[in-house]
Amino acid sequence: MTSSPSGSAPPPGRDTALPLAAAIVPEAALSPSGRAEIRGFLVAAYAPRFSAIFSLYDFWGGPAEARVILRDDRGAIAAHLGFSLRTIAVGEAPVRVAGVGAVATAPTQRGRGAGRAIFAALARHLAATDAAFALLECRDAVVPFYARCGFGRSVRTVTAVDPETGLTDVSTSNLMTMPLAGVPFPPGDVDLRGMRW
Ligand SMILES: CC(C)(COP(=O)(O)OP(=O)(O)OC[C@H]1O[C@@H](n2cnc3c(N)ncnc32)[C@H](O)[C@@H]1OP(=O)(O)O)[C@@H](O)C(=O)NCCC(=O)NCCS
Repeated sequence: MTSSPSGSAPPPGRDTALPLAAAIVPEAALSPSGRAEIRGFLVAAYAPRFSAIFSLYDFWGGPAEARVILRDDRGAIAAHLGFSLRTIAVGEAPVRVAGVGAVATAPTQRGRGAGRAIFAALARHLAATDAAFALLECRDAVVPFYARCGFGRSVRTVTAVDPETGLTDVSTSNLMTMPLAGVPFPPGDVDLRGMRW
């Protein structure tokens, strides 16, 4: 266990320095045990509201094509997100985005920059793709977190396919977009042309 600068012991579970680099892990590289590890991580991180879903699924909606995973120096998952590239419609315009979901930091690792680190890694990865924006929807409580990670907010009418029923769902939500190509997110209603992430 390391000491804090003041010499007092850090709280239990927060005594390890987080690595600076997060790994991009393609879906094809995830083994059954790797998926089970992600499910366990998400069950704990999303408790109690979404634990039931993540006890069954390592990603909800999407589907994801890769994960960004940050591990602590014991090898445990400290933070995670999943993403995939898709062309959506905004107003009349086709827009290439990386949709993001299953964003979480382990409860014992929160407030240490792990969430920001996985989005920095995502942005670096996406710079080599044709995605013009990273995109996600979120509840009001986490809008400030995403703002600190480089996302802008607008309230939009969003059309998507419900992953449970396969039916079209239209709702109004906080749409968070991180620009990757130096252009502003276009105005208009959003059709995700598939499931939410
Ligand atoms: C939201 C969550 C991912 C944040 O992760 P984290 O690793 O604690 O975030 P970070 O330490 O990287 O925070 C980055 C910045 O956002 C701020 N921030 C983090 N969570 C915040 C919150 N809920 N409200 C306001 N600001 C927040 C931090 O203070 C920090 O600000 P700074 O730039 O001034 O230092 C984490 O709380 C979590 O896993 N929550 C449960 C799952 C969840 O709600 N996921 C989002 C689903 S849409």
